[in-house]
Amino acid sequence: MTTLDDIINRRMSTRAFEPRPVGRENIVALAEAARAAPSACNSQTWRFIAVTDSVTIERLCREAMRPVIPNKWLVQAPLVMVGCSQLDVIANRIGARVTGIEYYRIDLGIAMEHMVLKATELGLGTCWIGWFSTKKVRRILDIPGRIRVSALLAVGYPRREVARKRSRKPLDQILFAEKWGRPFK
Ligand SMILES: Cc1cc2nc3c(=O)[nH]c(=O)nc-3n(C[C@H](O)[C@H](O)[C@H](O)COP(=O)(O)O)c2cc1C
Repeated sequence: MTTLDDIINRRMSTRAFEPRPVGRENIVALAEAARAAPSACNSQTWRFIAVTDSVTIERLCREAMRPVIPNKWLVQAPLVMVGCSQLDVIANRIGARVTGIEYYRIDLGIAMEHMVLKATELGLGTCWIGWFSTKKVRRILDIPGRIRVSALLAVGYPRREVARKRSRKPLDQILFAEKWGRPFK
């Protein structure tokens, strides 16, 4: 039986894909995994655009990436999930004004990571993309001004030989006990 730990440990960012479509059923499975995510006040502000058209993906890659990390590999991705948010009045406008917390971004992050883990279970590779111009993505995909765009997710069958496991900070640097900075023993 595959455990959640197996899936978490198997996941790594994939930046090279086989030229094979992801398939409609898999796209729906990813969206269902996202749909099951929690959200502030159950506001479910996430919206996704599944982009599979190679011409559009090429435009995203060529026109909407930023310099220095131009994400050129994106052009090979058979699917790009575009993570958007349609803000809710109570949780996202009133709540965020009171607390200063942008709940919609937390919500979208959780939902998209559900997608990532589901994709891993299905044998698909993924890579988050945050280094892009929201303005240009908006223009290419006709996203209205009231909708926020926060992340893209490249999805596809990985060319395994290219991926490699990245290191992580040790637990004592990220986990404290009871108060900030107190070691967790
Ligand atoms: C919000 C976010 C934005 C990211 N943006 C990019 C990006 O623009 N380009 C890229 O190649 N990787 C991007 N990544 C992937 C990270 O570089 C990667 O997760 C990190 O190096 C750890 O490697 P791993 O995912 O293989 O464990 C992003 C990841 C996150 C969570």
